[in-house]
Amino acid sequence: MVNATKELFVFANLGGEFVPAGQLQVDEEGSRLIASSFAYGLRYLDRGNAQEVDPVALSLKNKSAIKGKYLVPPNGLEAFGGIRDAAPDSWGRRVIEARLKVPANSLPESTYLLEAGSDRIGALDIRASLDQEERPAHESIHNLSYVLEGAQRIEAGLPVSEVLSRILIVGSGLGGMRPKASVRDDEKILWMAKFPANNDGAFDVPSIEYATLKLAELAGLNVAQTKLEPVGNKKVLLVKRFDRSWTTSARSIEIRHHVVSALTLVACHESESNTKSYMNIADAIRRYCLVQTVKSDLEELYARMIFNLFVSNDDDHLRNHAFLWNQELKGWSLSPLYDVMPHAVIASERYQRLGIGPQGKLATLDNAYSAKERFGLSAQLASSIIDRVWQATRQWKIYFENFGVAADQISGISLAFRHIDDICSTELIKTLPKD
Ligand SMILES: Nc1ncnc2c1ncn2[C@@H]1O[C@H](COP(=O)(O)OP(=O)(O)OP(=O)(O)O)[C@@H](O)[C@H]1O
Ligand SMILES: [Mg+2]
Repeated sequence: MVNATKELFVFANLGGEFVPAGQLQVDEEGSRLIASSFAYGLRYLDRGNAQEVDPVALSLKNKSAIKGKYLVPPNGLEAFGGIRDAAPDSWGRRVIEARLKVPANSLPESTYLLEAGSDRIGALDIRASLDQEERPAHESIHNLSYVLEGAQRIEAGLPVSEVLSRILIVGSGLGGMRPKASVRDDEKILWMAKFPANNDGAFDVPSIEYATLKLAELAGLNVAQTKLEPVGNKKVLLVKRFDRSWTTSARSIEIRHHVVSALTLVACHESESNTKSYMNIADAIRRYCLVQTVKSDLEELYARMIFNLFVSNDDDHLRNHAFLWNQELKGWSLSPLYDVMPHAVIASERYQRLGIGPQGKLATLDNAYSAKERFGLSAQLASSIIDRVWQATRQWKIYFENFGVAADQISGISLAFRHIDDICSTELIKTLPKD
């Protein structure tokens, strides 16, 4: 039995300004979302710079076929991927619940969608009416310690003061589980601040994630710009928002680029994502991404998979890969790399979250190498990528020291980093470029 059908308005930011993009209908039963449908606005479809809400169910490739039509999500799903990617994930939901003083997961999906503020990931905003104003949802970088305090109270389930509760919207529009917030620096650049979590134990997670992102850059990967900010006796990781760019003219305009996750491109339910693989992402890239960037995206995705093996980043789920709307080329390409965290485990046989080759999730280079054709890679190119990533990750300790990671942190995380001999057969090693 459907309790309520709600009508929401989806706005898209084009050229620095929000315009109505379409109408979203959601059927809800209590806090459970049952079904959605979406119709693009006719004026939006006429705009030359319209951004696609998602490439799977809401493609703008054939505008005349969708004019005036209510569209539904693919594969019997209850939500559109492109809308779900603009909704808060676990952390954002906790922030909204703390602000509204309600229990965890008790709100209908439409409320989470409406409460995430206008600084959410991507180019969309979801509003209750056409005349609802933009709701900025970021803090000044100078107030990081204040926002961190609020985040820690939410994590601990403690009540937050009225003042803190008003600024907590800054954490509600961002995905992922870890505590975070949007902050703006003096140049008006927007950053995602990732905080230490109460249950990190002895691990200085922000410093380790920072050093791992920098290591990935040294391995030749395309990585989001990042820096580490001391706040009191803690560290906060700042990652520059890749879904924003800024014009350099005196009156700087913030341009928003829409973002969808690999979960959206693979078009499955989150509960099924455990059965998916990097090859499914590669197939989706071929199907939905820009022809101009398909080859380089596949190569980059393969290199990220190899990097994840070497550093035991086994939280490489479908939402930890994303795609950005390219305004000039009017299509999708792989976003910069984000959220890489080495996992120190004792087991020598390890597994990734996604399948990486014919032997499923087994974290070996042989398994990944056997899948190279699915990424369109020659034997020579696959070997050279493996070698390139190994040449950087083999020196991780020196790099981590240079990036300022403390000695006890380096020894605490060292089990995560793998030697090539432990994940590669002697036959495969022989095919790699010689040092
Ligand atoms: N630099 C960035 N610019 C724009 N969006 C980003 C950026 N970094 C991450 N994102 C988006 O924000 C989401 C949350 O970020 P991230 O994955 O780093 O958080 P997390 O809490 O560590 O995630 P998880 O729950 O996977 O551990 C990502 O899924 C991605 O959509
Ligand atoms: Mg994540």
